[in-house]
Amino acid sequence: MEVTDHLDDRSGERPVGQIRPCYSRPNPLRSEACQKGYLRLGEILMGHSDSASALAKLRAQGLRLNGLRHQELRYTGQRVNGRGANGHGKNGQGAFKAEFLTDVLTGLQASPKSLPSKYLYDERGSRLFDEICLLDEYYLTRTEDQIIKQYAQEMADQIGPGVMLVEYGSGSSTKTTALLNRLAEPIAYVPVDISREHLGRTALSLAAAFPQIEILPVCADFTQAFSLPVSSRLPTHSAVFFPGSTIGNFQRPAALAMLEQIAQLCGRGGGLLIGIDLQKEVLALESAYNDARGVTAEFNLNILRHINRELAGNFEKNQFEHRAVYDGDENRIEISLVSCCQQQVAVGEETFLLEEDEAIITEYSHKYTIEGFASLAAEVGLTLRRSWTDDKQLFAVLHFALLS
Ligand code: TRP
Repeated sequence: MEVTDHLDDRSGERPVGQIRPCYSRPNPLRSEACQKGYLRLGEILMGHSDSASALAKLRAQGLRLNGLRHQELRYTGQRVNGRGANGHGKNGQGAFKAEFLTDVLTGLQASPKSLPSKYLYDERGSRLFDEICLLDEYYLTRTEDQIIKQYAQEMADQIGPGVMLVEYGSGSSTKTTALLNRLAEPIAYVPVDISREHLGRTALSLAAAFPQIEILPVCADFTQAFSLPVSSRLPTHSAVFFPGSTIGNFQRPAALAMLEQIAQLCGRGGGLLIGIDLQKEVLALESAYNDARGVTAEFNLNILRHINRELAGNFEKNQFEHRAVYDGDENRIEISLVSCCQQQVAVGEETFLLEEDEAIITEYSHKYTIEGFASLAAEVGLTLRRSWTDDKQLFAVLHFALLS
């Protein structure tokens, strides 16, 4: 049965998506949710308070929106701090800048000095990172894509029927599509991302491609606790899909906290499908973060431009050098910006002294063995059920279940 959206009645368009009967039933939770500050997808996309006119604008741009009117996006945090985040929306530019400044000052006052890696991703940084993903040396993205594409059916079987699939970081990528295509009777797909822009794009393209799956985007910082949206139909269980080896960027206590939070979010019977970068010979690891064309160096140095622009900093980009070395004791790549000389830098009102060869750490990227990661996850009750890897064992995708 196809239920026609009344907005489409008005415009005389034919619905393109199959809108399931359950949408036609009033859902008290939904209207309550709206009153509690849930926003409609149209508003998120347009940064608009009037969702009807936002939808009209989108329609004028030729976007197909059937079904999306029903989807609400919960804006959970006060923090606008993710990849591509630009400080627009509810928080406004001011709150974003204040937090950016606090984070930067805190990092530069610490010993060793550090800068939060999330600030690598302004617009230019996001573009540079996309370029990194295509580099010969940077095998991670390509290898994970290939593993998921090759074993998508096995992964979907492992996840099981009737799932609410929650993806950390919203991907309208081939990975997500490959998985959604093969899941048995999926109930809902919940992309979680700090960037409204990314979320909006993901939700739109996936809703068009998968009209039978309810798309329920959540705008949140997934390192903080958030709750799952309510789907129209009850899922049998939830599973988190966490690709990209992003878990490797957390230090052990934070990685554990993250896994614990995932376990709590999914609850009993839940699952986790996660990508991890594997330990391997140092040369291959270090090459991945020191590419010949210098894209990674440019990406790393870009954080200084970002700080100069947004926080009235005076970093001299050419007084710093990109460094990425493997620490065999900690099993991680340590990425930093190294001061070429003794120098003083200012950020806003504050000044900092940097010694020659002093490093400012911008990112750690931990490398695991399958067993090592499995025992970490076991600490929070996640049991390894299956793992998939590539021929060269560069990267692995693991499936965990929450049994108890
Ligand atoms: N999550 C990516 C990784 O650990 C991030 C990354 C790749 C990165 N190259 C970088 C971060 C260079 C800082 C600098 O692989």
